[in-house]
Amino acid sequence: MPLDGHIALITGAGQGIGRACSVIFASKGADLVLLDKNSETLSNVAQEVARMGCKVIKHVLDLTNMDELREAVENARKIDLIDILVNNAGFDRPGTTAKIDKKEFEEVLGIHVTVPLTLIQILLPGMREAGWGRIINVSSIYGITGGKGEVAYSTAKAGIIGLTKSVAKECGQDGVTVNVVLPGLTRTPTIETFMDERYKKAIIANTPLGRIAEPEEIARVIAFLASDEASFITGIALPVSGGWGL
Ligand SMILES: NC(=O)c1ccc[n+]([C@@H]2O[C@H](COP(=O)([O-])OP(=O)(O)OC[C@H]3O[C@@H](n4cnc5c(N)ncnc54)[C@H](O)[C@@H]3O)[C@@H](O)[C@H]2O)c1
Repeated sequence: MPLDGHIALITGAGQGIGRACSVIFASKGADLVLLDKNSETLSNVAQEVARMGCKVIKHVLDLTNMDELREAVENARKIDLIDILVNNAGFDRPGTTAKIDKKEFEEVLGIHVTVPLTLIQILLPGMREAGWGRIINVSSIYGITGGKGEVAYSTAKAGIIGLTKSVAKECGQDGVTVNVVLPGLTRTPTIETFMDERYKKAIIANTPLGRIAEPEEIARVIAFLASDEASFITGIALPVSGGWGL
């Protein structure tokens, strides 16, 4: 199996794209370290992948609590080498430049840029030493197009693209690839619960494939980037958007 013998740390694993990554990575033979702040959904996913034969460690934590994050990941790292990192967790705080709350702006930058940077700082040295590693970050089409009323989210999602390319340049010689996927509209619990139908329809109308993505369609691309099939791809910002953002 393509990810046999590897250990992947996935943030925001409790639902949506993170859950789909967990299941697909497990189906490809990876063992998993799963992080999320929601203990109920995280337990469900951990049980699901364990039933598939995957060795799994789960940590319930708020990723933006840096001390807790460091401790959890340092402990998991002591058990074995984590050689795949999927920086997926995220949340949105909508607002225009006139209305955005500065604290919320910084929270959004924190989860989408500072948390991935921190995890990269912890895990990259081990990957470099091993001569093999995969880092896959999750941005958004808004990271390249911007979004009206999405100033914090778009800024953060552009930031993770810059981080990806910079880290890719740092560690390519050591066998570590670093890529970022840019999903379009994807049917996850947050989108289904909170996004207005009119807004969804407007995005779908601008999506050449004319529909919303399923989380597995994003997760399969992430799993590809984590595999040896993608051994000569690094620093790429890959839209997985059905053509939205062209
Ligand atoms: N769904 C979409 O349409 C879409 C489009 C583009 C990009 N994305 C990006 O894809 C990623 C996943 O999106 P999703 O729709 O699956 O999200 P989601 O909201 O459905 O799930 C996110 C998960 O992350 C966890 N999480 C959030 N903040 C956390 C924190 N501080 N500490 C610990 N866990 C935390 C949540 O508990 C949840 O389980 C995000 O980075 C998102 O910005 C999603």
